[in-house]
Amino acid sequence: MLETEKYKLICGDCLSELKKMDNQSVNCIITSPPYWAMRKYDNNEDANEIGNEDSYIEYVKNLTSVFSEAKRVLTDNGSLWLNLGDKYNDKALMGMPWRVAISLMDDGWILRNDVIWNQMKGTQSCKDRLRDMYEHFFHFVKSKKYYYNADEIKLKPNLKPKKVNGKMVSATGVSGKKYRQMIIDSEELNETEKNNALKALDDILLKIQSGEVNDFRMTIRGVQRAWHSDDVQISGRAKELKEKGFYIMKMGASGFLPGDIWNIVPEDTWRKDSHCAVFPEELLRIPILATCPGGGVVLDPFSGTGSTVSAALKLGRKGIGIDLSNEYNSIAENRIKQIDNTLF
Ligand SMILES: C[S@@+](CC[C@H](N)C(=O)[O-])C[C@H]1O[C@@H](n2cnc3c(N)ncnc32)[C@H](O)[C@@H]1O
Repeated sequence: MLETEKYKLICGDCLSELKKMDNQSVNCIITSPPYWAMRKYDNNEDANEIGNEDSYIEYVKNLTSVFSEAKRVLTDNGSLWLNLGDKYNDKALMGMPWRVAISLMDDGWILRNDVIWNQMKGTQSCKDRLRDMYEHFFHFVKSKKYYYNADEIKLKPNLKPKKVNGKMVSATGVSGKKYRQMIIDSEELNETEKNNALKALDDILLKIQSGEVNDFRMTIRGVQRAWHSDDVQISGRAKELKEKGFYIMKMGASGFLPGDIWNIVPEDTWRKDSHCAVFPEELLRIPILATCPGGGVVLDPFSGTGSTVSAALKLGRKGIGIDLSNEYNSIAENRIKQIDNTLF
């Protein structure tokens, strides 16, 4: 991609096209390959279309080869976001997203998140099992140290610490009074632990007052249990509770990171110009903002109608799309041309 170019749409087989690209030339890859044995996209029988393999083993192998080449093209601190849905074969749910994810992990990718994309409505195709509602959106990285701009995606707390009867309390009204009494009354904590707990409580209340912290919860041994597990082998919090007698969970005033279940209605319920599974641009916001620096390059090797490239441009990044289908490439081209000229 030339310095001056904002986007590039390439018509061709992604594995061959990736092979022509320079090492570490894109910052982030976001994509949704065809699912196995679901549909045929391209009419050309010779086309190297993924998803039409006779066996799922071959499908997993092909995708692993594509992403192995993609890894070379990705910067060392880059991210891969991979959307995949599952499939039933002869009545059995195949676990296909995980088959691919495990193959990528075995190929050296580090899995950071398995985001569940809750599609809200789901399809009712059978009477003897529940509706399918979600797809996976895996976040992989190449190395343990990777680019991640958490501040860009933090949810801002809509409640702030406030004054009640002249005293500052946390965003959800925690004044610390009950915690103080619990510490004083505790028969579990020794004197040193009690003093340390009271000091930690005073410190966090000062931070509430100064606006540095928005909210907090305190867990005290013998009063509450650790949130995740009581097993000190499993939970660092349980260990803290055992050794110190208490711990405090802060909720920062600068906001908190979104969770790993995203409720987003799929775009193909309203997009009329194509029949493929189109990415809703909302789904791409967090991956682009968090894992591609401003002005960086986002690549989609199965770009279809160009949703990833379009979202990248709107968020001030550059975009490269590769797709086998001429038809989808021209839909993508038209869609991108309609983006506000001021972006170019
Ligand atoms: C699920 S669709 C992607 C849709 C896309 N996320 C969007 O928002 O429009 C998968 C795409 O992969 C393309 N495809 C299949 N095999 C390919 C290959 N070997 N190289 C490049 N594209 C391929 C298909 O033509 C199809 O457009």
